[in-house]
Amino acid sequence: MRSIPIFLLFCFLCFKCKKELRKTNDNRGVIAKNAMVVSARAEASQIGIDILQLGGNAFDAMVATELALAVSYPVAGNLGGGGFMVYRSANGNIGSLDYREKAPLAATRDMYLDDSGDVIPGKSTLGVASIGVPGTIAGVFEVHKKFGTLPLESLLKPVIELAKKGVVVTNKQEKRIQHYQQFFKKVNKDSIIFDAQWKAGDTIKHAALAKTLERILKYGRNEFYKGETSKVIVKFIQEHGGIITEEDLASYKAKWRKPITFNYDDLHIISMGPPSSGGICLGQIMTMLEPFPLNDYGYNSLKTIQTITEAERRAYADRSFYLGDPDFVKIPVSILLNRAYLSGRMRNFSFEKATASESLSHGNIQINESTETTHYSIVDQFGNAVAVTTTLNGAYGSKLYSNELGFFFNNEMDDFSSKPGTPNMFGLIGGEANSIAPEKRMLSSMTPTIIEKNNKLFMVVGTPGGSTIITSVLQTILNVHEFNMTMQQAVNAPRFHHQWLPNHILAEPNAFDDLLKTKLENLGYPIEERESKILGKVDGILVLEDDALEGGADYRGDDTAIGF
Ligand code: GLY
Repeated sequence: MRSIPIFLLFCFLCFKCKKELRKTNDNRGVIAKNAMVVSARAEASQIGIDILQLGGNAFDAMVATELALAVSYPVAGNLGGGGFMVYRSANGNIGSLDYREKAPLAATRDMYLDDSGDVIPGKSTLGVASIGVPGTIAGVFEVHKKFGTLPLESLLKPVIELAKKGVVVTNKQEKRIQHYQQFFKKVNKDSIIFDAQWKAGDTIKHAALAKTLERILKYGRNEFYKGETSKVIVKFIQEHGGIITEEDLASYKAKWRKPITFNYDDLHIISMGPPSSGGICLGQIMTMLEPFPLNDYGYNSLKTIQTITEAERRAYADRSFYLGDPDFVKIPVSILLNRAYLSGRMRNFSFEKATASESLSHGNIQINESTETTHYSIVDQFGNAVAVTTTLNGAYGSKLYSNELGFFFNNEMDDFSSKPGTPNMFGLIGGEANSIAPEKRMLSSMTPTIIEKNNKLFMVVGTPGGSTIITSVLQTILNVHEFNMTMQQAVNAPRFHHQWLPNHILAEPNAFDDLLKTKLENLGYPIEERESKILGKVDGILVLEDDALEGGADYRGDDTAIGF
C-alpha cells in the first residue's frame, strides 16, 4: 500500500474501522479466547489442544501435534522427513528451527544424471535414491529441550495411544490412498499397510509406528539417530539399494537459525530463512507490492492480479539463482530484501503488457503435479506462537515404507537441482547454489510465518503446496490486511500462482471469471487452470481486536481448528 496524505488517512481509517466492525459478524472460523491449534487433521489438533489444556505451552503442543500428524496424516506428517518451525514467544522473542533433511555423505552432484548428463526420470522422486537424511525427530527434541515445560511422556503418550487405537479414514484420504497405491507397489518389496482397499470410515491402526515411538520415548532422540531404530533404518534403506549410512544419521543436527524479518505497511513479518526460500521470496514479493494500492485496485481485480504476478515473477527468478543452503553458499540476503533493489526490479513492469519471463532470465520447463507437505499453527494461552511446516516432499514422500518402523521416507532429494537449469517436480529451476553436495540441505519453499502488528502477535500462517506455498501464504496475508477478510475467508478465497517459469498464471478453477481471464490473456498472461487443482491448504490463526483467536482451517483438506 503506498503512503497516503494525512487528510486522506483519517477518511481511510474511518472506512477501515467500518469494515472492521462489519466483518466481526461474518464468516468467521473457529473463535477461542485462550488458545488455538489448526492442523491438517482433527486428531492432531485435538492432541495439541489437550497438551495446552494440561498446562503445556505452544512448544509442548508442537511436539505432540507434529508426531500426531505422523500418525494421522501419513501423506505428509512424518518421522521420515523434516521441516521448519518459526516461533514468537509471549515476551516478543523470535527464532526459527531448521530440521530440514540433508544429503547423505555419499551423495554426489550428478547422482541423478545418466552417462549422457541427462536427468534420469523418477530417480530423485520415487524410491530409495530420493531419500534425504530425516530431521523430524531431531527437530522435536530440540524444541522440547529449549522450550518444553511438560515431560516428554505427557507429549508422546497420547500420540502412541492414537497410533494403537487407529485413525478413521476420511473420504479425501480414501481417494488419495487409492491414487498412490500403484507407486507403493512399484517401490516396496513387501506389501504395506496402505496397499489394502481402505474405505472412508475404516480405521487404520499403526502398531509398528506405536512401537517406534515407544522406543523413542524410552531412549530419547538418539534412539532414532544412533540406537536400534537407526540400525533398522539403515538396514532397510541399504537393502533397497540406498546410500544412507549410520554415520549419516549419527551426524544429523537440527539448527537454530535467524528468521527473515521485514515490514509491510504496519505489519512486521517473521518467516523462515534459508535453506528455505520462503521468507526471502515472501519478503521480496511483499516489498515489491507495498508501493501499489492493492486495496484500491480491489480483491482479485485485473490490476491486483497483474501486480502480484509481476512481483512473483521477479522474486522466483531470483530464488532460482541465489538461494541454497546458507552453510554451503553465500546468499546476499540484505540485498535481495533491499527496497531500492526491489523497486528497481519492478521498474520495467507496465499495466499495458506482461513482462516476458525470458527477459528476466531463461528456461524452458513444465510445471508438474501438486505435492504434499503440511502446516500447522499454534497459539497458546500464554501468548506464545509457533508456525510449523513439515514434509516428506511429495505425497507419501519416496513411497518407500518400512513395515517394521511404521513410516514412509521422504523424497526430499528432488528439492536439490539435479542438473542446474532443469526443473524439479514443482517445475522449479534450480541454480548452482542449490546443487547437490554431501551433508547439504536442499532448498525449500516452506514458509511458516508469524506476523506482528503494533508489536503484538497478529497472525500465524502457513501451508503445504511445494512452489505454491509462498504465493498461497502471500495471498492469505493480503486477503486479511488489504482486503479485510476474516481468517477463514482469507483461507477459503480462491488462489493463483506465478513462479517466473513456466510463464503462466496457475489458477484454481474458481479463481477468475471468464471476462477477467480473457483480459489477462490479452495482456500476455496465459492462464493454466486444471480441474480440481488446489493451491495450498492454509492453516492460520488471527488475533482479533478483543484478543480472541480466530482459527482458519482450509476446507480443501480435512484441516481442523480447535481452540478453548
Ligand atoms: N518439499 C517442499 C518444500 O520443501 O518446499
